[in-house]
Amino acid sequence: MNVKLKRLKTFFESICIISYTASLFKREDTIIKKTNYPPSDQTVKISSESAKQFATQVVTWYHHQGRKHLPWQQNKTPYSVWVSEIMLQQTQVTTVIGYYERFMASFPTISSLANADEDKVLHHWTGLGYYARARNLHKAAKLIDSEYNGVFPEKIDQVIALPGIGRSTAGAILSLALNQHHPILDGNVKRVLARNYLVEGYNGLAKFDKALWQLSECLTPTTDTGFYTQAMMDLGATVCTRSKPTCELCPVKTSCLALASSQQAEFPQKKPKKKTPEKSTIMVIPRITTEKGDRVLMEKRPPLWDLGWFMVFS
Ligand code: ADE
Repeated sequence: MNVKLKRLKTFFESICIISYTASLFKREDTIIKKTNYPPSDQTVKISSESAKQFATQVVTWYHHQGRKHLPWQQNKTPYSVWVSEIMLQQTQVTTVIGYYERFMASFPTISSLANADEDKVLHHWTGLGYYARARNLHKAAKLIDSEYNGVFPEKIDQVIALPGIGRSTAGAILSLALNQHHPILDGNVKRVLARNYLVEGYNGLAKFDKALWQLSECLTPTTDTGFYTQAMMDLGATVCTRSKPTCELCPVKTSCLALASSQQAEFPQKKPKKKTPEKSTIMVIPRITTEKGDRVLMEKRPPLWDLGWFMVFS
């Protein structure tokens, strides 16, 4: 086959063509060449074969090394996966286990959660922090109860429309619970992909997030999607960790551009720091003296922003 024809064939066999900024980049099998400095946008083609290989390596690793015995992985339903995914945002697995078990014992169905008092729901969240998560969970349960008869919706757009559920969490719920084909992109997955493909940028930068979503869409397999989703989360949480990743244990170490160029610590990049403005404040704490000693006057106020019920000095 002549060179032009071969290139054309490779082009049409590519399932994804992604343009992103990569600093040290030219991948010819595993050879990295410094081709382009300073960094600029590069077009990367990922063939269906290499995407398939990536997914197979990750899923095979999951079957041997991944986590399969966590409480929310037993008798999975969209509801149980939803509760666990919300609890696992910004919270470690070991902390979540007890909270998850108590929550599911008290609110075993979406309707039971919908009909519970907000105070009781928030009480089950005490200590987990980020109370907006619990309030949104409660709000969404009420919505599901009234609009979907208490049955968790199964279409991605319906799930994303629920309070507190973004694109990645919706994809995680539907792929983990129902094996539906949707990509995810949480912090762990971002780290794995940014390192493997040397994607420049930092969390929250639109261009960075867009390139990673495209990569995630391209690599997510149409079969075994649930295993792949869990595998990517576990890989990011246990092997491709933020500091001291254990690259020797990684199932995709042969294709990782960060490892090949010893740049694991540099990816994903850090958000440039803004200078912190200096502010001063004066606080007045009302105190009264009683026969039992000094007392501070406080009252309970309704939720504000993400703070839940809170106490103020009165
Ligand atoms: N973090 C968010 N979701 C997770 C999951 N399903 N397993 C492990 N860590 C997670």
